[in-house]
Amino acid sequence: MREDFDYLKDGDIYVDTACQSLRPKPVIDALNEYYTNFNSCGERVKYPWGEKTEQKVEEARKKVLKFLKLKPKDYFVSFTLNTTYGINLILNQIDVKDFEKIVTSDIEHNSPFLSTLAFSKKNKIPREVIKRNEDGTIPADVDFKNAIVVLNCVSNVDGRRLENLSEIVKKVHKEGGVIVVDGAQAMAHNSDILEKVQADAICFSAHKMYAPSLGVMVVRKDFLPKLNTSFIGGGMVDDVFRDEFKPSYDNPEKFYTKFEPGLQAFGEIIAFSEAIDWLENVPKKARKEFDGLCEQLFEFLDNQPKIKLLNKKPSAVISFYIDGIDSHLFGAALADEGIMVRTGYFCVHYYLSHEKNYPPLIRISLGLHNNQADIDKIINVIRKAL
Ligand SMILES: Cc1ncc(COP(=O)(O)O)c(C=O)c1O
Repeated sequence: MREDFDYLKDGDIYVDTACQSLRPKPVIDALNEYYTNFNSCGERVKYPWGEKTEQKVEEARKKVLKFLKLKPKDYFVSFTLNTTYGINLILNQIDVKDFEKIVTSDIEHNSPFLSTLAFSKKNKIPREVIKRNEDGTIPADVDFKNAIVVLNCVSNVDGRRLENLSEIVKKVHKEGGVIVVDGAQAMAHNSDILEKVQADAICFSAHKMYAPSLGVMVVRKDFLPKLNTSFIGGGMVDDVFRDEFKPSYDNPEKFYTKFEPGLQAFGEIIAFSEAIDWLENVPKKARKEFDGLCEQLFEFLDNQPKIKLLNKKPSAVISFYIDGIDSHLFGAALADEGIMVRTGYFCVHYYLSHEKNYPPLIRISLGLHNNQADIDKIINVIRKAL
């Protein structure tokens, strides 16, 4: 897929895709086209630019559901800032009287980890941090009775997948709970894990799936009655009286307005829609080649005695540390060679630093722009350094 990233300069090896992916040219073109050809507001305007914006934003909402194989009769799509904002928006609006506890897991990004912690403190309800199995699954005997559950389905440390996600969702619902899935790391290379999953909400970041910076929330329509409203303003009301207002989100066609106060990032939404098309059109051969690159890197790192690899399996996201070498220094040395990795705890402080007592780590996260030459160089540079 390298030709869609031909703006990359020779020698630049970007491997921080888990943070934000590079944007392929068609996505950048879509953003530019919006700004240069029909820069306008959706919904509120009647001139042709605005009508085009509205139509494209509507298309984007539909594409998200199609991508995840979810039905428009059951779900709607809202746009926001990022995964963190989406999860916080839901937790801040949830009607706490319906629930007894909030549950998350040990391998979460700070985004669910801290928002559940803040929720528990603010609402004075217990919080449970369940220990995931080594393979990323959730033990079958966890009690979800009347629980609000927030879990990632793919880890940003080692790509561990919540393979029993569907069963967990069913169990949570059977026991009277609701589940919000952090899909941040799933959408680019593991979206299969989310397909048809009947979670109450899925939050993810478009910027981790080859699109501009944008948050996406996929929400079950029957979850709305459990949510209050916190932020309110333009774009969310059909009429306003002195002391009252008529919310647009009372209308099933406009449920999405519940999470969209004020002007939206229309250009980003439209370019995100382009990114979905782009991702869906990645040829099988390119996917296979990408998996091959992930495997090569895993095999190499796994065979170095000095390298402590966290991954049990190949993944687009791979983390490790090297005995006796400071990871931040190592990251800086790789940067000198043009290799842009991430070092530290990747916003997973509790699990990595306190549960596992790992030193700061090095994370390489590959994207569809990477090619064989990138992997060869990474392997050669690390080999030489060792
Ligand atoms: C698993 C996971 N959840 C949540 C987030 C937070 O995403 P954002 O910073 O876009 O809100 C990240 C970001 O790396 C992530 O990897």
